[in-house]
Amino acid sequence: MATRSFLFLLGSSRADGNTETLARLAAEQLPADAGQRWLHLRDLPLPDFEDLRHADGEHLPPTGHAATLLEATLAATDVVIASPLYWYSVSTSTKRYLDHWSGWLRLPGVDFKQRMAGKTLWGVTALADSDPAVAEPLAGTLRISGQYLGMRWGGVLLGNGSKPGDVLSDTAALTRAKTFFS
Ligand SMILES: Cc1cc2nc3c(=O)[nH]c(=O)nc-3n(C[C@H](O)[C@H](O)[C@H](O)COP(=O)(O)O)c2cc1C
Repeated sequence: MATRSFLFLLGSSRADGNTETLARLAAEQLPADAGQRWLHLRDLPLPDFEDLRHADGEHLPPTGHAATLLEATLAATDVVIASPLYWYSVSTSTKRYLDHWSGWLRLPGVDFKQRMAGKTLWGVTALADSDPAVAEPLAGTLRISGQYLGMRWGGVLLGNGSKPGDVLSDTAALTRAKTFFS
């Protein structure tokens, strides 16, 4: 298997939350030669997304945090969206990152869609609800968005918890984390 390179995008609005804890446990099982890059979307705030699809003029290359996130996204073979469940879907910073994909699709010379095709998209999420079915909107958002770009779908790893650390008591999630990326 070609060497894999995993980009973990952390979308919680707090540090050391359950989602990151669960994602790090799952990542412990990755092969030693798989690259791992961890970026917290809180540290890389993106500008408000502006829909310029039908505006006149050129699509300018991104700068600042957007450039960092675009470069990291394109460099990965595997993109892991680690967002807590917020109102049954992804967090605001995660949604904003996904909205920026729409702009990146139109950047001249980047071939964003072609370069995303063939990467694998994964989801990791923590939720307070004991019913995992309430995370279906998040899973659907990620799966179908990835499908739009021709990405493979790796699935979503769910863990239960409200306050930080709670997910460590979800033994079923800890078991699933051990094989999630295999
Ligand atoms: C704005 C907000 C919305 C939330 N919405 C949901 C929800 O829809 N369903 C749910 O089960 N938990 C919801 N929660 C609880 C979080 O998903 C839960 O506390 C989770 O462990 C947070 O992950 P984190 O520790 O990685 O930040 C919400 C929390 C916040 C702050």
